[in-house]
Amino acid sequence: MKNLLPLLIFPLVFALAFVSCQEGAGDASEDNNARSVSQVIHELADLPYAHDALEPHIDEKTMMIHHGRHHQAYVNNLNNAIAGTPLADMDLIDIFAEMSQHSMAVRNNGGGHYNHDLFWNIMSPDGGGEPEGDLAEAISSTFGSFEDFQAEFKRMGMTQFGSGWAWLIVDADGNLKVTQTPNQDNPLMDVVEERGTPILGVDVWEHGYYLHYQNRRGDYIDAFWNVVDWNAVSELYAAALSS
Ligand SMILES: [Fe+2]
Repeated sequence: MKNLLPLLIFPLVFALAFVSCQEGAGDASEDNNARSVSQVIHELADLPYAHDALEPHIDEKTMMIHHGRHHQAYVNNLNNAIAGTPLADMDLIDIFAEMSQHSMAVRNNGGGHYNHDLFWNIMSPDGGGEPEGDLAEAISSTFGSFEDFQAEFKRMGMTQFGSGWAWLIVDADGNLKVTQTPNQDNPLMDVVEERGTPILGVDVWEHGYYLHYQNRRGDYIDAFWNVVDWNAVSELYAAALSS
């Protein structure tokens, strides 16, 4: 009997391992976390600063959930939507240019991934103040003054009904404009009215501010100016003009 014990135990262990794998596969098909991604095409980059670095203007908990859960979900869902299709080999900007030909899953999650990448990178704990140089001149000549630009940008954020974004864009003629888009649309997509290259954006989805500001979207946008990295925005402006 003693010699038969391994013969009885090994099949049992193997069977338990097999059942465990099957349960894991079931979980993966039901949620949006990393286990469900069948092909890693796009990846979530680390934040360029600590989660608490934008305090007190944007709180640590909001940043952790916003980046680690919301943005991660957009990345995972985008990968799932394009895996095994020709879109898996395309740059997001090229996909946006023909957005009307693709699914809502690609539109929502591709936009979600791109928009949040931009958002994290135009903010900095060393941000705030005003732009300098060519961008400052362009803002003044376009909107009248920096304060007038801020007011118009905030108005776009405040009047975006429901979830969406307010943008500063460079249009095809090299002019600055402020615009708004619903959901995760952005000005690069052929489905929006006012198209251009976004160089600044503020996320006015409630997930971006509700924990700290509740329904005070205006206070959130006012605080946003304290963390805008104008050096990064200026670089995007120069790149947009030269493209
Ligand atoms: Fe967001």
